Amino acid sequence: MLGTPVLRIDGALKVSGGAMYAADLNLPNLAYGVLLCSTIAKGRIASIDARDAAAQPGVLQIITYANCPPLHQPAKPISSQGQSLVPLQSADIAYYGEHVGIVVAESFEAAAAGADLVEITYAPANAPPVLMPGKPLKAAGGARDTTWGNPNAALAKAPIKIDQIYSTPYEHHNPIEPPTTTASWDGDELTLHDGTQWLAGVRMMVAALLGIPPANIRVLSPFVGGSFGSKRVVWPHVYLAAVAAKLVNRPVRLSVSRSQMYTTLGYRPQTTQQVTLGSARDGRLLVFRHTASSTTSEFDSVIEPASAKTGMMYACPNGTFARKLQRVDLGTPTTMRAPGEATGFFALECAMDELAYATKIDPLKLRLLNYANVDPMSKLPWSSKSLKECYAQGAAKFDWKKRSAAPRSMRQGQWLLGWGMASAAYPVNRSPASASVTIVADGRVLVASGTHEMGGGTYTAMAAIAADALGQDISAIQVELGDSNLPATTVSGGSRTINSIGPAVEAAAMQVLDKFVGFAIADPDSPLHGAQASDVRAINGRLQLEGQPMRADRFTQILARNKLPSLSASASTAPSTAATKYSAYGFGAHFAEVRVDPELGEIRVSRYVAAFAAGRIINPLTARSQLIGGIIGGIGMALLEESAIDQNVGTFATRNLVDYRIPVHADVPPIEVLLLPEEDSVTSPLGTKGVGELGIVGAAAAVANAVFHATGQRIRDLPITPEKILSRGIQSARRGG
Ligand code: MOS
Repeated sequence: MLGTPVLRIDGALKVSGGAMYAADLNLPNLAYGVLLCSTIAKGRIASIDARDAAAQPGVLQIITYANCPPLHQPAKPISSQGQSLVPLQSADIAYYGEHVGIVVAESFEAAAAGADLVEITYAPANAPPVLMPGKPLKAAGGARDTTWGNPNAALAKAPIKIDQIYSTPYEHHNPIEPPTTTASWDGDELTLHDGTQWLAGVRMMVAALLGIPPANIRVLSPFVGGSFGSKRVVWPHVYLAAVAAKLVNRPVRLSVSRSQMYTTLGYRPQTTQQVTLGSARDGRLLVFRHTASSTTSEFDSVIEPASAKTGMMYACPNGTFARKLQRVDLGTPTTMRAPGEATGFFALECAMDELAYATKIDPLKLRLLNYANVDPMSKLPWSSKSLKECYAQGAAKFDWKKRSAAPRSMRQGQWLLGWGMASAAYPVNRSPASASVTIVADGRVLVASGTHEMGGGTYTAMAAIAADALGQDISAIQVELGDSNLPATTVSGGSRTINSIGPAVEAAAMQVLDKFVGFAIADPDSPLHGAQASDVRAINGRLQLEGQPMRADRFTQILARNKLPSLSASASTAPSTAATKYSAYGFGAHFAEVRVDPELGEIRVSRYVAAFAAGRIINPLTARSQLIGGIIGGIGMALLEESAIDQNVGTFATRNLVDYRIPVHADVPPIEVLLLPEEDSVTSPLGTKGVGELGIVGAAAAVANAVFHATGQRIRDLPITPEKILSRGIQSARRGG
């Protein structure tokens, strides 16, 4: 039954090293590429001396702008293009880490040794690179401000106002798998092994850049070793691998190193957000205003839509949001872990906490007071919303009612204790998708879709959905995914994988079932002969007449009697137009406890409870795991993660997992995730909403609000570090004295 916890069907393969990630692949005659990256932030290449490198044993080819074939900059933007700047086309340098060459060799070691010997000199631009946002803010191209009601008039009259600036730093995704592309040509046909979240996106983008038909490209991505948005769009190493393979006339593997990952795969841009709330004295919101600016590169306008995602959260008659972009001399930013929601809800949910103190209303009560029964922006009804239950159950589990309201009023030994909460919401995204189901004469059931496994549990969910529809045990199901030759689907981004492919898998399974039933009822040798098709059920691995377990037929017997090797069906599904009449979100509530050492400023998250309602849950085991992963991302965002800038070098100073801090086990308490049952008939026939990103939304605010409750320090610029706690604590004490 769907909703029963199932162990990952690919788990054993993964822990035993049997899962083939892109860099595990061994092809005959494989050559290895190492990327050369610019060590200045802006300027030009003055000279390249590759003579020593070329003389290095094993070096096959050194590719620079001087000999790289021209690549076709797409005339129209392509949605899977990571950055519009195509490297190796000129001597110009736009950002630190821009690719300036590839050394291809017989072995990785020879390529790395060769790369060390390439002498590149640069003529840096006179002006220093701009790496941090400045003023004035530029309005985003094409983005219009959105307003409902009359926010200015409402603000003028509101008796209680909160008006604050919140900021989030540059952040990097840090998946454990460094991306690798292995490219091999067979005549005009190109095969790319690439740990991508978007098979079709790679195909589209590489076809455009190389000027070859998409049909000539096959993309394979059976496993993605984490991504968090970094492998959603196509970055230059992907197509450069294909260029290198063509030039050396051999398969080439091009891996991005750990430190290169910080300059070549995008990042979460810095955001500066102004949130203005106006309320009546009883806490009812009268006006909501959110302006967010984010940084982008000089050559692309990629926005972190922090302000565009928050207006749906609370009932408020007047509101407005605005988006602005600021250009910096870095590579192009990209989607990262709930892009927009994660950053926007940090600001919104902290501002709501501030309003709770200003109105002297419990933070949870304030949210219930402003509960939105319809989407305040679109005025559409919710497809389903169980947020009240999330608040109630999360609060009960956490024991929220025992919270004493005043900051610094709760202690545990030497620790200041703080309790904070925040709401979560993430939209339901669904796209057209296809899948096929085949039942083979030997009893195997094959389920296939050109989708992706990024660690979320796609293999297992597909198997569970097919098993449920076919009345089979999950052990009978074999899943194939990660191949652009399989039935085409959508990007695995925006938490849409199961929402999109789940219905396609189910529809294909139902269609193949219909075929079997048709054969059985028409066959005089079948126990089901003459039965009504609508009375036949798929139960316990066979077809059976409703209420008559003795009248049953096996799939394998039906195939054998009809001398068929297999029967299969493919289905394509798409969102219904009825869904456009609703606003569809998954919701949740976070409750965090922190301990802060008043002497050292040390912050520990000591307890965490979160409750989510996200439609039908296919596999509670992996769904819970995804939500916990999201919350850990939120703890990182709140307390640790920051890509620091080195102005002298002109890039990120944090370019390894020592300097870039992500939470380790010691930073994470046991996290209790409550999954509330919820039915939704609008989102899809399966009623799922997606859980990939919901967990991180609001999590950083819950921790920040707990830190305020513990210390009385409102830190509005992430991450909240001991240094900030101590320095601001001392300042306020001095002011007070
Ligand atoms: Mo996701 S950050 O939409 O890949």
